[in-house]
Amino acid sequence: MPHKYNNIPPGIKSKIGRDLFLQENNHPLATLKRRIETFFAQGYIPGSTFFKCFDRLPQVVSVQQNFDDLLTPKDHPSRQLSDTYYVNDKMLLRCHMTAHQTTLLKEGHTAFLMVGDVYRRDEVDATHYPVFHQMDGVRVWDRYELPPTIQADLEKGNRDSAVVFVMDDLKLHLSALVKDLFGSDIELRWVETTFPFTEPSLELEIYWEGQWLEVLGCGMIRDEILKNCEKSNTIGWAFGIGLERIAMVLHDIPDIRLFWTDDNRFMKQFQVQSDKPVKFVPYSKHPACYKDISFWLPSEDSETTNFHDNDFFSLAREAAGDLVESIQLIDSFVHPKTRRKSVCYRILYRSMDRNLTNAEVDEIQDRIKASVVSSIVGSELR
Ligand code: DAH
Repeated sequence: MPHKYNNIPPGIKSKIGRDLFLQENNHPLATLKRRIETFFAQGYIPGSTFFKCFDRLPQVVSVQQNFDDLLTPKDHPSRQLSDTYYVNDKMLLRCHMTAHQTTLLKEGHTAFLMVGDVYRRDEVDATHYPVFHQMDGVRVWDRYELPPTIQADLEKGNRDSAVVFVMDDLKLHLSALVKDLFGSDIELRWVETTFPFTEPSLELEIYWEGQWLEVLGCGMIRDEILKNCEKSNTIGWAFGIGLERIAMVLHDIPDIRLFWTDDNRFMKQFQVQSDKPVKFVPYSKHPACYKDISFWLPSEDSETTNFHDNDFFSLAREAAGDLVESIQLIDSFVHPKTRRKSVCYRILYRSMDRNLTNAEVDEIQDRIKASVVSSIVGSELR
């Protein structure tokens, strides 16, 4: 019997160990990882320290590491089975690289990067894929390494100058990093936000092709997290960057599935040596074809009424693989008498690499229908 919590389908399991970001063939994710690692290793910031890079941390972590240690509220949506891939009720596929933060802090590291693949149940479109890559960074100081005036303030119970010190150092590093990646004339702005694990928290946005685009989240690590790592005399910052998001912008990559393609027309374009990031030229966009599917969800008194759109997205991805480009919920209604809910999804099929035949798409659509019936117990195709 599979554990109730085990919601990791074979298609997702097969991605573990692909290590796109460790390839030595100029894969854009590997190149970007190397650029950020070099930035933090070489001391681009005068007086900055060397950041050790951890790139082989295990994908399976505990609920404690991924959520509890980072003070994620118990009712936070990201904890749900609809959003996260669980191995069992205690272990899961990390949904962010921040999951390793407390483990490495407890080991005594003070300046480090963590890079790897992360897993999320999410929408299906050109910028979302259930596996993607993040680079997190952490820098902490022992109180006694801080300028004497800040130490004195902290002794008096006043944290204000410490917060300014940490946030200034964080902004200095991250704005220099973004300028290194995108060019020194890139326009940036800081936007206040919230994360469970930092206070204050900021997002960094860049102005790109007429729009403000969020490129990373960061902030001052909450005291409680450090205290739980037996680092009560420590303060510091942390950040997290999505590598696909950055690489898609840098190289004009239009669809996130391309990072996974084995079509050499993709990888070939990244083999040239150049100071500027290569601009990807799409090799002819193949025609798309869409199909709708509608079904009744299980009736309200059934065990499986807590159906989530992500359950359908996940099942469709398993059946269609990378031939599905996007899925949209185009209609839903509740029958006035039976109170039963009906949903209709539009699936857009398109291969990155070739033309699809009608017969092929029909066959996939049939597989998706069969999978709805077999895995959403109590559902009914319309
Ligand atoms: N873990 C966050 C995410 O996946 C990103 C992040 C934000 C990481 C702030 C951090 C941080 O370390 O301080 O969206």
